[in-house]
Amino acid sequence: MNDEIVTAIGTPNVALVKYWGKRDFKLNLPTNSSISITLDESLNTKTSVIFTEKLKEDAMYINGERTDLNDVSNEKSRFTRDIINYMRDLSETKARALIVSKNSFPTASGLASSASGAATLSYAVSNALGLSLSARELSIIARKISGSACRGVIGGFVVWRKGEKADGSDSFSEAIADEKYWPDVIDVITLVSSAQKKVSSSEGHRMTPATSELYESRPKSAEGRVKRLEKAILQKDFNTLAEITMKDSNSLHAAMLDTYPPIIYMNDTSREIMYAIHALNENEGGIIAAYTLDAGPNPQIITLKEHKNKVIDAVKGIVGRDKILVAGQGSGPRTLSAAESLIDETNMVPK
Ligand code: DP6
Repeated sequence: MNDEIVTAIGTPNVALVKYWGKRDFKLNLPTNSSISITLDESLNTKTSVIFTEKLKEDAMYINGERTDLNDVSNEKSRFTRDIINYMRDLSETKARALIVSKNSFPTASGLASSASGAATLSYAVSNALGLSLSARELSIIARKISGSACRGVIGGFVVWRKGEKADGSDSFSEAIADEKYWPDVIDVITLVSSAQKKVSSSEGHRMTPATSELYESRPKSAEGRVKRLEKAILQKDFNTLAEITMKDSNSLHAAMLDTYPPIIYMNDTSREIMYAIHALNENEGGIIAAYTLDAGPNPQIITLKEHKNKVIDAVKGIVGRDKILVAGQGSGPRTLSAAESLIDETNMVPK
């Protein structure tokens, strides 16, 4: 497969029961299992990869900027380099890689840009090398770059089982139900701020377990929520899904605040949106929407297609209609045609 450009598109995933805390930092092994929805291509990462003998060294560009893969102080660069080397060894080539990647949405704003990037990268690199990896193998590879990415290589509702083994071979994602099973469930994303977060999630994964007493109960309680949520998804029980989603987000952000020094990702606008969703549910006499926040201030509101407009109406006065995006469920990364390549083949540079 050398000298062939492969271009892939992948998407973020939104966690309903979240990953926060690692039992192994090198392998990104989590302290609890987590569940997410892989989103459709409303938000996406496109990545082109070529392996060729013409290059002297590996090069990677993200959103137009060269990323130094040899920067050992940058964990993500180090993990990415290790993954490229690992897959290159698997395919028994010595060719160097040119990787060009673009996100259609703000990086590091709590919208899972690293998950989308790492899931797409793992998929694109494995395809460029002609490796036929199973979803499980791809999930383990993506996990090593960014934990949450291991869920994004699979479509629909996905569970990442934390696993028990020290080598991480049983810590991978699998489908609970694909994107066609319960497509009514959608994500209304509110872009409160696109500013980069002050504390990276990698840093938070260390600090919260190390300093928060509230966190101590989380690994066990999150595991219980994962079990109940899996059942709720299979039964298409939105009420239970929504309650678990909001409670998991709230309990995580409580532990973040309990971290010392505190980690605060929410702002006043995030809180206003949360209140608006509770008010909406109260008015409706039942739960029709659930908010969830990752390591950033942007609430994502999980709802059913039939309630989309009610949800938008409830929050557009707070955040502005132009800051609201709606995403359905997606199928995970896929390959694009040669016309979509981000690499200029004649000069071997980003287009
Ligand atoms: C709050 O996957 O970004 O989004 O493994 O260090 O790359 P690393 O962390 P990352 O953490 C994501 C945390 C979260 C919750 C989630 O997506 O489950």
